[in-house]
Amino acid sequence: MPSSAVGNNRVYQDQDHENEVDDVAFLTGDREHQQAAANRAATYEKPIIASCTPKQAIIVLIVVIASSFLISIIIAFARPIGCQYPEFIPPPLPKGYRLRKPSANYLTTTGEAYPWKDIRLPKFIRPLKYRIQIRPNLTTRALKGQMGITFYVTEETNFIILHSRNLTINEYLLRDVRGKELTIRRSHECIELQQIYLETRGSLFPYQNYTLGIRFDGNLTESLEGVYMSKYTNSKNRTRFLAVTHFEPTYARAAFPCFDEPHLKAKFKISIIRHRDHFALSNMPLEKTEDVGFFLERGLLQDHFQETVQMSTYLVAFVVCDFSKITNKTSRGVSVSVYAPPDQITQASFALDVATKVMDFYEDFFGVPYPLPKLDLVAVPDFGAGAMENWGLVTYREAAILVDPEQTSTKSQQYVAIVIAHELAHQWFGNLVTMDWWNELWLNEGFASFLEYKAVNSIIGNWRMMDQFILEKTQTALALDELSTSHPVSVSVDDPSEIESIFDAISYNKGASILYMLEGVLGEEIFKQGLTNYLETNKYLNTVSDNFWECLSIAARNSSNDVHVKTIMDTWTQQMGFPLIYISRDEKIVHVKQEMFPSIFRNSNDPERPNSTWKVPVSFVTSIDPTREFHLWLNGSSVDFEVPDSVVWFKMNSKQSGFYRVMYEESLWAQLTDILLKNHTSLSAADRASLLDDAFTLNRVGILNVSTPLLMLKYLEKERDHVPWATALRHLNYLQQILSLRKAKENLVCFIQKLITPVYNELGWKLRTKHVEKLLQEEILSAAVKIGMVPAISQATKLFQQWRGAKTPISPDLREIVYSTGIRYGDKSDWDTTWKKLQESKISSEKRLLLKALGSAMDPWLIQRYLEFTLDQNKIRSQDIRTVVDSVAQNSPGNLLTWRFVKLNWNKLLNVEGGIHSIGPIVNAATSRMATNLELSEVEAFFSKADVGHGHRLLDQSLETIRNNIFWLEKSEDLLGNWIKSNTMC
Ligand code: BES
Ligand code: ZN
Repeated sequence: MPSSAVGNNRVYQDQDHENEVDDVAFLTGDREHQQAAANRAATYEKPIIASCTPKQAIIVLIVVIASSFLISIIIAFARPIGCQYPEFIPPPLPKGYRLRKPSANYLTTTGEAYPWKDIRLPKFIRPLKYRIQIRPNLTTRALKGQMGITFYVTEETNFIILHSRNLTINEYLLRDVRGKELTIRRSHECIELQQIYLETRGSLFPYQNYTLGIRFDGNLTESLEGVYMSKYTNSKNRTRFLAVTHFEPTYARAAFPCFDEPHLKAKFKISIIRHRDHFALSNMPLEKTEDVGFFLERGLLQDHFQETVQMSTYLVAFVVCDFSKITNKTSRGVSVSVYAPPDQITQASFALDVATKVMDFYEDFFGVPYPLPKLDLVAVPDFGAGAMENWGLVTYREAAILVDPEQTSTKSQQYVAIVIAHELAHQWFGNLVTMDWWNELWLNEGFASFLEYKAVNSIIGNWRMMDQFILEKTQTALALDELSTSHPVSVSVDDPSEIESIFDAISYNKGASILYMLEGVLGEEIFKQGLTNYLETNKYLNTVSDNFWECLSIAARNSSNDVHVKTIMDTWTQQMGFPLIYISRDEKIVHVKQEMFPSIFRNSNDPERPNSTWKVPVSFVTSIDPTREFHLWLNGSSVDFEVPDSVVWFKMNSKQSGFYRVMYEESLWAQLTDILLKNHTSLSAADRASLLDDAFTLNRVGILNVSTPLLMLKYLEKERDHVPWATALRHLNYLQQILSLRKAKENLVCFIQKLITPVYNELGWKLRTKHVEKLLQEEILSAAVKIGMVPAISQATKLFQQWRGAKTPISPDLREIVYSTGIRYGDKSDWDTTWKKLQESKISSEKRLLLKALGSAMDPWLIQRYLEFTLDQNKIRSQDIRTVVDSVAQNSPGNLLTWRFVKLNWNKLLNVEGGIHSIGPIVNAATSRMATNLELSEVEAFFSKADVGHGHRLLDQSLETIRNNIFWLEKSEDLLGNWIKSNTMC
């Protein structure tokens, strides 16, 4: 349906003025309307300005200047000796309230001591309802708003605190429930704490409602947070602008003053003023539209949205745009729509189909209906994250939602399905039930990261999502969590930048992995009952992890399975790291022992690690029937179990479903390697992947000799499954990167080529039909060109030239390989043509591939120029900077240039990327293959001087990675080279 049908839906109705700050005159200062509004909102009247002649004015001016001069002299000299300004005494803290940072000395904007010393708001404030009227002006970039917040306090107080960031507050008005005005004695703003302190003359009494009216001004931000502007080019080649919001975690306060903490839930009644060429969307459906052109500016309309349910501030959202939409209904009749720029709306069908099915799946799986009447998904041309779960109005970066079946690769389609399922899982886990504070962000992100796989697995069965789960979640989380610079799943965080730093693989992927492990322990049915119970009891409320554990324990007890879930799960969420399980066998007896997985280097500032143990659900399969799983608990540091003599081999951690690694004694490794080499299919694909992942990692940290993983690899000649291959290639890619300037690289490259050749020959470039086969083919072809296999390179460059010249389209699954190989082995004119194609493309998945491919150039001049493009927003959108820099850093000649570029442009990158947390991944990409002491000290020296704010964890992780690389090279480089030389023909 064309967008204007929504946009011009005018309804002229009277507003509900009860308790409401609903006058719009302030938006233009329109006199007549002010007059009309005067009776309703007397406080907002402009002061009456008296008129006088110019002569009178000059006399008045002279008198004023002379008297102020006189007064200042009196103040300066006539103060009695010993007289001091009264000492500022901050108001008493509410009972039982602890200051988190008592020593901090925060200042107000006028340089005085700010009375409240805590980054958290006082515990006694409870908002009930926000009425917000806001006008994002897409022409002037101004943001204007007025609002009324109804709240109460739980103890008597004479001050309240709320959040505000980069807003100018023009007026406050506080009224009690009878409408009587309460005087605000003073107000202070503290920029550092992003807070406003309002002190009243009299007291506010507990459990009585008050309404705080505020008028404010701001700007549409330059970053991709708060209320910001995005743009696209339409079919007539005209630039069209849109306003978008992104509030998580702490940017709602940049759109309107509010109590911006996730547990301070309230209802929101939102009105948006916008031009008639646009329409507005918000969390709830449109209630009515008023023509406010007469009072404000011609062509302006005001959309009033239905009141929301009880929700957190970070989930509020609105969009003002002129997009098109397509709509569908879930089986229960909830309206689901996807919005995109009109030229791209044909790419929205896949998303709409997935979204509708996923909604049905969740409603059924959770047993709790989606509580809103509609769900909108919007493709936003400029978007910082991948997507954001605003309740009822989910926003996505284009490449995370738009699919052209003719042009988008299998891998990208799967990514789109996953992102959609992730954000829709949040509609329950995060939106309906919300973590009490950000320290348990994992209750949002870990859950959504687990459920996204379950949902896609259920709606598209043949994609084999649960095998891919271990590849994407468990393995990546284990890799990060082994660092001494990791953190527990539940982690104490206070200020906004600390909060942002935990949107990482620990909260997401470790969170998801421990849920997967727990589901395995309890069984899907009990787990599901626990979820339903948790959602039902906590809907519209906030929770801590214990609430969830309790619901699972109850569900287990009801099925006569008495598991005290909290005791088990606390060991996984409260401490960082994970166990390494040692396995040895004495005939019938198998000894199991746990230790914390060792990190090679510990940051000298870190306290000694506790001697941790975990409650580990140990599983295994045996040679007798490898499809039958056995389970036992490892609760203390060790346990034994018995196996019959007839068991020849056994593999622990079946399907890598547990969050731990396994170190076998030598003879057991040998048996498992033997199985892989002789009859690999007797183990499941996930088990094969898990053996490779453990063996390589254990070698990396110096526990296992490099010959074990290398010998295992030989079985890959027979492997045809995507998951083990992807696991192996990830590790090989790592080795190749850190060996890129070393002697042993030659041997490794030759060895990898040998391993790949059989599967490369078999799969070749022919189009595949099965989903997982397509994923495998892409993995193998990409490895083949990267490792320099001549036939692969020549085929890819041939296809590239065909595409470049005759515009022959390439099959979507081959594009990434063809474009990047074409650029890698091409010249400047190839690069320039590809850049031009990038400018012309309307397919976001294609744009992403082209952006990545352009980073593969080998000519340093081209690479440097491309890096510099990232500082020019007309060339590279800021949302894409990371993709570009990452891709250049992946490429050998680009790697050194990237680090140089990051250093030279540190401050600029900090600004465009919006802080250290956003450039953390860039730093990581630029430094992750460094492997010498010289580089280490150079990076350390740079960070010791650079402004890193609260970004220490990310930088420490980068430094630790370099140290690990140095360690591995010293210990294993020669062994690897020698083993390859003596065991293969390389
Ligand atoms: N809630 C997040 C969005 C977000 C990320 C807000 C970081 C603030 C900081 C959203 O649900 C999310 O996790 N998005 C992911 C995509 C997802 C499929 C992993 C993202 O943005 O990468
Ligand atoms: Zn999420």
